[in-house]
Amino acid sequence: MHLDQPIILDSGSSSTKVGFKSDSIPVDVFQTVIGYTEDLSSLRHSDLLIYDLEYYIGERALSSKRVKKLLYPVWNLVIDWESIEKLWHYAFFDRLHVNPNYNPIMVVESFYSTRGQQEKIAEIMFEVFCVPQLLLSKSPLLCLYAAGKTTGVIVESSASITIVVPIYKGTIIRHAITYSSIGGYSITKYLQKMLGNKYAQLKRQKFSHLIDELKKKHCYVSLNAEREKKVFMKTKKFNKEFILPSGDIGIMEEERFRAPELLFDPLLNGHNDEPIQNLILESIKKCDLTIRKELLDNLILCGGNTLLHGFRERLDKELNLLFEEKLGFKIKSFENREFFPWIGGRILCEYAEKTDLWLSRKKYLETGIDSAPFLSYFL
Ligand SMILES: Nc1ncnc2c1ncn2[C@@H]1O[C@H](COP(=O)(O)OP(=O)(O)OP(=O)(O)O)[C@@H](O)[C@H]1O
Ligand SMILES: [Mg+2]
Repeated sequence: MHLDQPIILDSGSSSTKVGFKSDSIPVDVFQTVIGYTEDLSSLRHSDLLIYDLEYYIGERALSSKRVKKLLYPVWNLVIDWESIEKLWHYAFFDRLHVNPNYNPIMVVESFYSTRGQQEKIAEIMFEVFCVPQLLLSKSPLLCLYAAGKTTGVIVESSASITIVVPIYKGTIIRHAITYSSIGGYSITKYLQKMLGNKYAQLKRQKFSHLIDELKKKHCYVSLNAEREKKVFMKTKKFNKEFILPSGDIGIMEEERFRAPELLFDPLLNGHNDEPIQNLILESIKKCDLTIRKELLDNLILCGGNTLLHGFRERLDKELNLLFEEKLGFKIKSFENREFFPWIGGRILCEYAEKTDLWLSRKKYLETGIDSAPFLSYFL
């Protein structure tokens, strides 16, 4: 059924999204993590069970007691190629149940992906998985396609980064890009620091996944942090209980809004990055006056971090305070924005069919990645 259907693959720092072109959102999402167990070669044959594995991937890596070392192969860019190859094998064979010999593969890249990274992706896809065709494209452009626009400012806040990318009529305005290292991961780390001060057991690195889940469930962005603090001092009714790893009950108080506050005030946890509202202002200021209005009409939120409750409203408030001239702006927070890079990849696959953007295996074997049509297309 899915023989020769293009597959779209987005391995982010936090999660891998994968699915076929015919799907509207990724059919499968799993944690981009690999857990290596003890070295099996050191065990006696009789100690080995039939289901022993050298490594587990995704949620199983996080839950298996046999895992000795957790490795996250992506930090904005791929940083461990051996592990990512295993993870992609798992994505194709174990999750999608396909051998990608017949499936063209579209890979979503970070904006900062280099030619070296692209060559390595092509090498793995063509030489290890023997895919017939490959297409690469960078996340912010794909997010714009997903929003159905050709002009706009992409505000992508994902696990590893928050990046603001203005794009005019399909062309990225490179000199106006701004970014900060505050993403979902920094918020989780800050939450872990605060909760760890209350419950020492939570300080351990291995519980960061549990903290991430708590963040998604109970954290939100307040409209006014000072006022919110007073509310929490007055009443306990907004506190949230949760189960600690020991089985005891823990309580989330102010941490609920204080952790995400980091986006708007990075100094809270000693980061020198600019707050997200300043990133947007700086970016817009670097764009030509004549196109600012058009750009500001399309501030497009995407990335998992923008799912935080209250995020849009607070950003709206901060930008209103910042923009002196009443230029006006519109923040767009579409449904499924956490999957926008993947959805844009799917849209690009459709377009690529008509325009032949794919790099074929034959061409790759002859000339390498240099002849890839998508490279010149996205210059
Ligand atoms: N409902 C939610 N509320 C708050 N945060 C969320 C929610 N869902 C996801 N996140 C956070 O969003 C981040 C993941 O976003 P995303 O999937 O866009 O990143 P990624 O693609 O894995 O990483 P990157 O693109 O930075 O390499 C994580 O830090 C996660 O905790
Ligand atoms: Mg991503």
